[in-house]
Amino acid sequence: MTRRIEIVPSILSADFLRLGEQVREAESAGADRIQVDVMDGHFVPNLTMGPAILKAVRGATKLPLEAHLMVESPERWIDLFVEAGADLILVQIESTYSLYRTVTAIKAAGARPGVVLNPATPVESIREILPYIDQVLVMTVEPGFGGQAFVPHSAEKIRRVRALAPDHDLEVDGGIDASTARTAVEAGANLLVAGSSVYGFEGGVAAGIDALREAADRA
Ligand code: DX5
Repeated sequence: MTRRIEIVPSILSADFLRLGEQVREAESAGADRIQVDVMDGHFVPNLTMGPAILKAVRGATKLPLEAHLMVESPERWIDLFVEAGADLILVQIESTYSLYRTVTAIKAAGARPGVVLNPATPVESIREILPYIDQVLVMTVEPGFGGQAFVPHSAEKIRRVRALAPDHDLEVDGGIDASTARTAVEAGANLLVAGSSVYGFEGGVAAGIDALREAADRA
């Protein structure tokens, strides 16, 4: 099955003084979704943004919004982010004791559920939850900060996730640029989250998105 490759700018690297403009820039440049990176300073060593920022982004774009919850006890936040306008809620498998209950709660709240794996989390850990989710996000860096390097074993891990989940959306996130985008797509990813290679791209947001799409097309 050939999937259209989707580009998903992550706002963590955006200019927060011009957030609405930066989101609209990404939409005009052909981004397919926007990812909001939610960090609580406990699950990851950084503190970023909450439902109010997602609600503000909701008002700036018609694109689907992903809330990537890098937080402890993500179940506490599901309703608030769905009410703020999140279309997908992505929960870290490492962050909850009851993943089936959390995924069920996401669907009950009216959003689509995705499960996120950190670099050292085995692929096998998603086997039982796959029938209940739409998407798997493979972190290709340890989450917490933008601008990190693609973890070396990621391509092989993406291939194993794609083999286990042939029909799911497979997203990657962390260190995704023109070079690693091609590697990730060749390994089976169809959604590319990119922060610094879009909002930190020398030629600007549109050029950054174009570079990622061209790289993905060469895969
Ligand atoms: C932090 C976030 C990532 C990050 C990606 O780990 O989850 O989405 O913003 O940033 P880059 O693309 O710069 O690695």
